[in-house]
Amino acid sequence: MLDTRTNRPDLPAEIARRRTFAIISHPDAGKTTLTEKFLLYGGAIQMAGQVRAKGEARRTRSDFMQMEKDRGISVSASAMSFDFRDFRFNLVDTPGHSDFSEDTYRTLTAVDAAVMVIDGAKGVESQTRKLFEVCRLRDLPILTFCNKMDRESRDTFDIIDEIQENLAIDVTPASWPIGQGRDFVGCYDMFNNRLELMDRADRNKVAESIKINGLDDPQLDEHVPETLVAKLREEVEMARELLPELNSQSVLEGHMTPIWFGSAINSFGVKELMEGIGTYGPEPQPQRAEPRQICPEESKVSGFVFKVQANMDPKHRDRVAFVRLASGHFKRGMKLTHVRSKKPMTVSAPVLFLASDRELAEEAWAGDIIGIPNHGQLRIGDTLTEGETLKVTGIPSFAPELLQQARAGDPMKAKHLEKALMQFAEEGAAKVFKPAFGSGFIVGVVGALQFEVLGSRIELEYGLPVRFEASQFTSARWVQGDKQAVEKFTAANKQHIAHDNDGDVVYLTRMQWDIDRVERDYPDITLTATKEMM
Ligand code: G4P
Repeated sequence: MLDTRTNRPDLPAEIARRRTFAIISHPDAGKTTLTEKFLLYGGAIQMAGQVRAKGEARRTRSDFMQMEKDRGISVSASAMSFDFRDFRFNLVDTPGHSDFSEDTYRTLTAVDAAVMVIDGAKGVESQTRKLFEVCRLRDLPILTFCNKMDRESRDTFDIIDEIQENLAIDVTPASWPIGQGRDFVGCYDMFNNRLELMDRADRNKVAESIKINGLDDPQLDEHVPETLVAKLREEVEMARELLPELNSQSVLEGHMTPIWFGSAINSFGVKELMEGIGTYGPEPQPQRAEPRQICPEESKVSGFVFKVQANMDPKHRDRVAFVRLASGHFKRGMKLTHVRSKKPMTVSAPVLFLASDRELAEEAWAGDIIGIPNHGQLRIGDTLTEGETLKVTGIPSFAPELLQQARAGDPMKAKHLEKALMQFAEEGAAKVFKPAFGSGFIVGVVGALQFEVLGSRIELEYGLPVRFEASQFTSARWVQGDKQAVEKFTAANKQHIAHDNDGDVVYLTRMQWDIDRVERDYPDITLTATKEMM
């Protein structure tokens, strides 16, 4: 039995056992393989290979999905729940491609911890670093898994040094690898003084664990090849001397990361990592909100939308809002208040994303992710409560870095195009600006690939050919200030003004110089590159 106690005694046991986390990694480091092994240990799938197989089947459904496959990127994110020992794990998938950083950022607002997977031969790669920085903004606890130890990998001290220096975080070894590449036999468990041996013959077999009484235990000599045992003793001693000791509080605050070494494909080190998530990945944490923060143990249910996904099932034109429950015990059929519109909303068909399939959620607790099918009422950043006016904060929207003019291939279909664009804007797939002057729409994205994705989806899902053309503008900033100041500014700069899909005023320009000028000439106005989702 693992320790699921918490230093928050009011937390109901069902909430205390929940661990909601995401995996961050560079493509190819082994995220998919690790996810698969998590599910295997969690009993959610019977055989490794199902996640991939399912993924492939899903991907063949449409050209858009075909594009996902060709490019080797995952455009859509989802959530998976499974049990491990006493814990309920909620794994929220982060889209892997750098073009989708805004989506990824929001996904990370819905988790309490992140598992950082690195390739033992490659160390910290670019995408990992970017995602790590996002985690750092939120002080998320991070657990590290160094994968592919069955292949030639870097020296263990080098890997640890690189993480410490590159990411400015203390690293404490949870396990120590014994041998590497073809000679890799397993790990010494630094936290529990155990020896974990890998079975190369059976990739799905749980490692053999041998309790050792310290480094001098003669059992070590029995199980570890002679050529490796002296080096192991020496390295572990050095590690204990030179590297910081585990400090759970520091892990919780995001200043220290424990690192496990293993090989996901051989199921090695995965169980120890999962135990680590249980022990160090925290239980559901309080959520920042206005006018007060929300604690998971509150009896009233609340939650917020961090992602909206349209057309998950092409046969049904549904949209699913992914809601992270921030507090309470949710039951199917509950009536919640949609705070933005102040309207009641009966949640009769919530979905829990069990790894095996979508399933109706009869109940869920703070920390869980539920999917709420809807027709567009629910937007990213929306808060749901049992009546109180609370607004979860910290879910930003970023100014797009690329702008293009969208035109309907068929001029008669301009209205349809508007509708499609608005839907994508609400899903968070793009920003849509309606210029105050002239016709048409300006679409803004963070990465160039998103225009292609949008184009394919508009054609596929709405049957509308669309063209994206160069826009005269290259930057967008939200205009903030009191009403009068904004009106005065708008009237004097009409050529540059547009409204986003929430109706907020945006200043469009092609020169940084313009932005500097506005800031100088209009001291009552602030131009911002981010805004809180309302
Ligand atoms: P990703 O989701 O992070 O992109 O990585 P994924 O799990 O798909 O893994 C990338 C490749 O690395 C896969 O190879 C996978 O089998 C392999 N891999 C994952 N874990 C390990 C490990 O512990 N040891 C070794 N040796 N390999 C591992 P692939 O899809 O079969 O093909 P390829 O990419 O090698 O061509």
